[in-house]
Amino acid sequence: MQITVSAPGKIHLLGEHAVVYGYPSLLSTIDKRLEVILTLLDKSNDTKEKIQIQTPEGTGLIYKSLEIFQKAARLSQLPPLHIKVESDIPVGSGLGSSAALSVALMGALFKGIKNLWNPVKINELAYEVEKLQHGNPSGGDNTVVTFGGLVWFRRETEFLKSIWNLPSASYHLPSLILIDSGRPKETTGEMVSYVNRLYTQKKTFYENIFKDQERETRNLLSALKKGDRENVKRAFYRGEKNLEKMGVVGKKAQSLIRSIEKLGGFAKISGAGGITEGSGMILCYLSNFEKIEEIAKKFGCNIHKVNLGVEGVRIENGE
Ligand code: PMV
Repeated sequence: MQITVSAPGKIHLLGEHAVVYGYPSLLSTIDKRLEVILTLLDKSNDTKEKIQIQTPEGTGLIYKSLEIFQKAARLSQLPPLHIKVESDIPVGSGLGSSAALSVALMGALFKGIKNLWNPVKINELAYEVEKLQHGNPSGGDNTVVTFGGLVWFRRETEFLKSIWNLPSASYHLPSLILIDSGRPKETTGEMVSYVNRLYTQKKTFYENIFKDQERETRNLLSALKKGDRENVKRAFYRGEKNLEKMGVVGKKAQSLIRSIEKLGGFAKISGAGGITEGSGMILCYLSNFEKIEEIAKKFGCNIHKVNLGVEGVRIENGE
């Protein structure tokens, strides 16, 4: 018995970091996906390895997901399994590859072992995996990856999240270029702890930035609804400035972003950011694509074109 479940990557349009402190964030899925191909092996399978894993990345997150699934499904032990992961989502660059993996795997385990398909449950358990992986995540990544499209997300309390799954067809979502400013040296968990240390020292300063970021996130949503390109640009511009004030954007990313702005475009980091080396993917829009290519080349960075608002976790096929 074999089942394939896929989940998309995601970007933070705006509100990252502030979302950890209970402010809203706006996230969107992107048209890059990860697939989990789960095979239930014959029970008489007498190989020593009852859980076989084939993945381009580490297995830590997979074992954490299995443990959480086993507990939630109240299974004394898991059946023999083969898990294969294939992905076109770049890892460790703020595109939600870990959320896509835990969501797709949770979906495949529920469907394959319990014959259940419940995105709310998938999301809830993927959040538990994200917590083991990242420490204090908001839950935004796993939510948008599960439900797809455009998501307005706010963590009200640890056990209550406001989730608005917005129909992407009712918004003017631009195609964006992602410029890879390099894999951050710091993990998402480390960046979240770093901001938390600074927040504890300068609470009023950070609260003011977060409040302003909420205003810009609301402005961005309204501008996307109306298709008001000037205000989309303004919200991204101010949002990026706030992220720089928070201290999460490295020097290389900042000068790359300034180059795009000088030509009349907008650009911002997306996700946790990074300081010492790269800052992950930079979202960028400039009508002149050749110019973006030129700038990216000058900074030695790769680019990806992405469409927003695609479908969330889904079953690709299964017996
Ligand atoms: O870099 P990513 O994709 O893991 O996004 C992190 C976003 C933060 O707001 C910094 C943390 C969170 O859990 O929301």
